[in-house]
Amino acid sequence: MPPIKIIRLAAASATYDIHVGGGLLGSLHARLQRLARGKPYRPFLITSPNIWKLWAEEVRSSFPEAQSPTVLFVPAGEKYKRMATVEALAEQLAEAGADRDALLLAFGGGVIGDITGFLAAIYMRGVPYVQIPTTLLAQVDSSVGGKTGVNLAAGKNLVGAFHHPRAVFADTDLLRTLPPAELNAGLQESIKAGIIRDAKLFRLLEQQQEEIRAGDPVALTRVIAASIQVKAGVVAQDERESSLRMILNFGHTLGHAIEAATGYSKLLHGEAVAWGSIAALYVAFSRNRITGKEFARMANLILAYGPLPRFRASAQQLVDLTAADKKTRSGRRAFILPTCVGHAEVVFDATDAELLQAADAMLSDMKRLTKHKVAS
Ligand SMILES: NC(=O)c1ccc[n+]([C@@H]2O[C@H](COP(=O)([O-])OP(=O)(O)OC[C@H]3O[C@@H](n4cnc5c(N)ncnc54)[C@H](O)[C@@H]3O)[C@@H](O)[C@H]2O)c1
Ligand SMILES: [Zn+2]
Repeated sequence: MPPIKIIRLAAASATYDIHVGGGLLGSLHARLQRLARGKPYRPFLITSPNIWKLWAEEVRSSFPEAQSPTVLFVPAGEKYKRMATVEALAEQLAEAGADRDALLLAFGGGVIGDITGFLAAIYMRGVPYVQIPTTLLAQVDSSVGGKTGVNLAAGKNLVGAFHHPRAVFADTDLLRTLPPAELNAGLQESIKAGIIRDAKLFRLLEQQQEEIRAGDPVALTRVIAASIQVKAGVVAQDERESSLRMILNFGHTLGHAIEAATGYSKLLHGEAVAWGSIAALYVAFSRNRITGKEFARMANLILAYGPLPRFRASAQQLVDLTAADKKTRSGRRAFILPTCVGHAEVVFDATDAELLQAADAMLSDMKRLTKHKVAS
């Protein structure tokens, strides 16, 4: 078993540790007690039935019977990341007598993490919570950084709060039950982290592809810890996304457009980001920000963690959809471009025409690379 890696996130409003490695679940109770510094706490664990079915025994056995967490359920799926779910959970907490001694435990992927974090931010005007992410995406991305929230009919993550967890326990054992497509999609966020800020992580993803895809715990622990380090480093400098944090959106402008164009149902988030990243690479290449060799190296790594599914959308449709996702600064769109492996910059002058050309090139690649697959 590889040793546990600990990454400290020190942001303006909170400092906490993110623990990564195998076997963390077994010592969960002791770790939570240490976190509570001997003060009594009541654990309320929020999860989905499908996840709990796989991991309940392991989690329960970490706690003495009298301190076993009260478990609250949310059905699996993005469609339950809504205010109604948060309200129902708050009612259940109140009914169970949860007060300020409550410690919420988010045990699931990004959906459970975002819901639980938001619930913790507003229940009794704020109670502490801990993230125990069970998907790779949640381990490398959503459990870290304090963004919490839910969706509205009008769009994703439109209601929320900044509320950091007290700690994050990312147990790599949990990934054993994750479908391979979910693992690969999550790894796209690690590739993103490598491209924008960590050439060594990028190389690790290139060189240990087989081990990583097979779920080797040593390789995965290294990848996850390095990815978290990138996010924690960026968030520490720019908690509220006024500047630097924007680089974490590499691949996401067109990625979000692809998700919207396909009704959030055909592709996993990481798969949409992967195609969006390839389009962003085309923009960088046509501006001579990266060489053809660098373009190929980055695109090849993205494609290696596939296969990426094909989708139906036109370049124009995608560019039109980016309007809804514009991260604007005085009306200007922020767009993230790599300048080499391990470094990226934010530009504000990417035009619709540039994005159209890049989206078109990406769509041609997609058709060429997936031509033997039946389009759904
Ligand atoms: N807060 C942030 O900073 C942030 C960042 C990125 C993404 N997000 C959010 O994260 C969400 C996506 O998260 P996700 O990709 O983890 O999806 P998810 O939470 O929907 O999980 C994916 C699926 O895997 C199942 N699952 C989870 N863990 C499992 C395990 N160990 N074994 C088997 N099945 C398991 C889940 O029940 C679900 O069906 C989105 O809502 C997105 O907005 C938030
Ligand atoms: Zn993402």
